[in-house]
Amino acid sequence: MGKFVIRGGKRLEGEIRLAGAKNAATKLMIASLLTDEPCRLDNFPDIGDTEITEELCRNVGSEIQKQGTTVTIQTSDIKTNRIVLEQTRKNRIPILALGPLLHRTGEAEVPILGGDKIGARPVELHIKALQALGAEIEENGNTYRARAKGGLRGAEIKFDFPSVGATENTILAAVLAKGKTVLKNSALEPELMNVVKMLQKMGAIIELGANRDFYIEGVQKLHGVRHKVLPDRNEAVSFACLAIATNGRILVREAVQDNLITFLNTVRRMGAEYEVVPEGIIFSRPNSLRPVEVQTAVHPGYMTDWQQPLGVLLTQADGISRIHETIYEDRFGYIEDLNRMGAKAEIQTACPPESPCRFSGKNFAHVALLHGPTPLRGAKLAVRDLRSGIAHVIAALVANGESEIENVEELDRGYEKIDERLRKLGAEISRSG
Ligand code: EPU
Repeated sequence: MGKFVIRGGKRLEGEIRLAGAKNAATKLMIASLLTDEPCRLDNFPDIGDTEITEELCRNVGSEIQKQGTTVTIQTSDIKTNRIVLEQTRKNRIPILALGPLLHRTGEAEVPILGGDKIGARPVELHIKALQALGAEIEENGNTYRARAKGGLRGAEIKFDFPSVGATENTILAAVLAKGKTVLKNSALEPELMNVVKMLQKMGAIIELGANRDFYIEGVQKLHGVRHKVLPDRNEAVSFACLAIATNGRILVREAVQDNLITFLNTVRRMGAEYEVVPEGIIFSRPNSLRPVEVQTAVHPGYMTDWQQPLGVLLTQADGISRIHETIYEDRFGYIEDLNRMGAKAEIQTACPPESPCRFSGKNFAHVALLHGPTPLRGAKLAVRDLRSGIAHVIAALVANGESEIENVEELDRGYEKIDERLRKLGAEISRSG
């Protein structure tokens, strides 16, 4: 198991360039399975989740070439429509291959999903949507088996909740289905729109209407494409929080203002500084920090993957802050770790009275109150999931003394060479194991 040793308490300064987004790159790879022509993906990140997805693609028959940050994938023939590799259970991607494999071979088998341990994470919205498009799906022990011998056909589908994965899954299946699909109450996350733009370039007809509706007209064939993975906005927020929490100043190269609107508003409310420049966004902290109240939401709201770096920052704010997590029922494990480092934070199950969410009355520990400012001290930690892992790293860099963080492979799944890049900002971080 890999481990980071971090000596904290230093101001981090300089510039860091964002890698391509994990949550787009992996989906673009799956989108490439919809054609037998080559798909070239630029700004491709070198992370664990893309490695796992490469293995998935190679298993079904893709040829993959890599040159620097460019990856070319071509799947001339599907060798197998069964994805049963143990490795692919580690993330949420295989279920997205159902649509492409059904189009190419009429049948598919994918493992029941893995991914971070942050709550139940059911996939009934994916399954119901694919069934509405004509797939027959059965759960078979550890896998889903799907068939669509006569091909998929368009349908009208309304999601109870704007799930990112279910929206992506349905779009990937609908672009080559016969006829029109209407998708209501869809997710609109920038990573998903990155996939939509790739599909459009490949020949798909996808319209975005009002009220989170997508209108998709099935086409007969998609072709090869050259497409850029959008810069990772979760990395952007992590590095921004790091700059502010360590009292430093960091230019986050390639950070895109459009994709960070709610985060930037939060930075301003806290009294920290940002400046949008042609190369990206510079984050710094000229003042003491004010507390804030944040509620996570689907895009364009405050993203759930941003609450953990913010949680660390809020331990340094002057007063009581609140984070209300409305996307996942169990995403505050890291708060316990922050308390061990000297933070004063408590977790509650009741929604704030003025903003009940879908977890209201369900007894989920989904509200955190953080009392700041509290100095942090080094501790021994083990990464629980990807985003809580980055909270550990930021907290260790803020803390006085030395911290040890175990299980950093989990961080490598989504943050490219994080230790090397942080060292260039002045961080004292070393890896072993
Ligand atoms: N949900 C259901 N039923 C479904 C699908 C989802 O109840 O059929 C629930 C989930 O249980 C969860 C919520 O809806 O409580 C959100 O799930 P969603 O489907 O929107 O998320 P996802 O597609 O599984 C992606 C990212 C997550 C990110 C979320 C929300 C990938 C691979 N993962 O997950 O990223 O938090 O969208 O934006 O794209 C991460 O990168 O660390 C990460 C967890």
